[in-house]
Amino acid sequence: MSARKVKVGLIGLGNIGKTHIRNIKSMEQIELVGVCDQVKEKADQFAAECGTTAYYEPADLFDRSGLEAVIIAVPHYSHPDLAIEAFARGLHVLCEKPLAVHVNEARRTIDAYNKAKESHPELVFGMMFQERTLPFYKRIKEFVDSGELGQLTRATWINTAWFRSQAYYDSGDWRATWAGEGGGILTNQCPHNLDFYQWVFGVPSKISGHAHIGKYHHIEVEDEVTAYFEHENGMIGHFMVTTAESPGVNRLEIVGENGRLVFENNKLRLFRNKVSMLKHLQETTQGFANVESEESELEVDTEVPTGHKVVTEKFIHRVATGEGELIAEGPEGIRSVTIANGIMLSSFTERPVEVPFDSDQYESILKQLISTSKFHKTASKEIEADITQSFSK
Ligand SMILES: NC(=O)c1ccc[n+]([C@@H]2O[C@H](COP(=O)([O-])OP(=O)(O)OC[C@H]3O[C@@H](n4cnc5c(N)ncnc54)[C@H](O)[C@@H]3O)[C@@H](O)[C@H]2O)c1
Repeated sequence: MSARKVKVGLIGLGNIGKTHIRNIKSMEQIELVGVCDQVKEKADQFAAECGTTAYYEPADLFDRSGLEAVIIAVPHYSHPDLAIEAFARGLHVLCEKPLAVHVNEARRTIDAYNKAKESHPELVFGMMFQERTLPFYKRIKEFVDSGELGQLTRATWINTAWFRSQAYYDSGDWRATWAGEGGGILTNQCPHNLDFYQWVFGVPSKISGHAHIGKYHHIEVEDEVTAYFEHENGMIGHFMVTTAESPGVNRLEIVGENGRLVFENNKLRLFRNKVSMLKHLQETTQGFANVESEESELEVDTEVPTGHKVVTEKFIHRVATGEGELIAEGPEGIRSVTIANGIMLSSFTERPVEVPFDSDQYESILKQLISTSKFHKTASKEIEADITQSFSK
């Protein structure tokens, strides 16, 4: 791994911040030069636990700790501002998902990165899209990239394994509010899924979204979404997600002219056509004859390192050596934000949207929602939460 230690600062010591602390402690390549949280007790507690310095303002961490790289693990709205402040100081950034709440902010962050690279060409910007490291997802990506399915015709993803209780939503006052979080399941839980979708299939060219706001929870953002996508290559996509289904399902079907790949219950089943379905439907003289296919299970090596730590290690390695691939480059983060905003814009306007859409229109709808929000959350409560239960394995 890396030849030298990298001086890292961590901002945000909440749920995911604790995961970062655990990983950092186990990584020899990191010297944790400071932790920062606006809640003084948290910063003090983790600083003591890690033998480092506590900061209560990100600017102090940036200016006083001597860090080279920062991990940003605060609520979404602050990701762009903190990343931009870091870039302006020539600091490397590993940003939690989502890159931003809306496309204009994502663009502002990427512009700042590109500008900072003019004077610091070595600057590293990574996104925490750890689900790209999951063995089944990696295998799906490889398989689709191999082109074996031929022309893709449909991808249908039902991912309702994101159950969240009212207690979860009540656990932080920023959660599930337009002002505090800027969105619901698409902004909080699904950036990973939307990132994976675009990683494999690209960003759709047309989006039709149907989002239900606070349908099952006392929240002001969406908790149930169905979207229909069209891609330039003719493929259609479906994306169905909710935080109100238990037991939930995580089933992804990918259909091409040469067969169908189905991911469900940690199995990848392939139905391989003996001939191309598109050729067969043109050439057969039989009215109803299906294409013959063969079913098999794709081998997946599950004994590999996965998760946040892999993303962090690759980021640190690149910072230390200037070499190696990141799991996800920072600017790629705009793509999942684009799909999420596109779904919501379509849902609000009750019309399909073409991509790229008018990101100013989306921003102004969001501003309106923030300003007219009448929702008052009850006081935050501590809940029993093991955040690892929320990660896809
Ligand atoms: N990659 C993943 O799997 C994953 C999982 C959970 C959360 N996240 C992301 O991480 C981010 C944080 O989520 P969370 O669940 O840990 O939130 P949280 O509310 O549990 O923790 C956020 C922490 O940030 C602190 N904070 C907020 N603004 C700050 C500021 N300006 N300066 C210093 N400290 C500040 C808060 O006091 C709090 O301790 C979110 O963007 C979320 O989407 C990612």
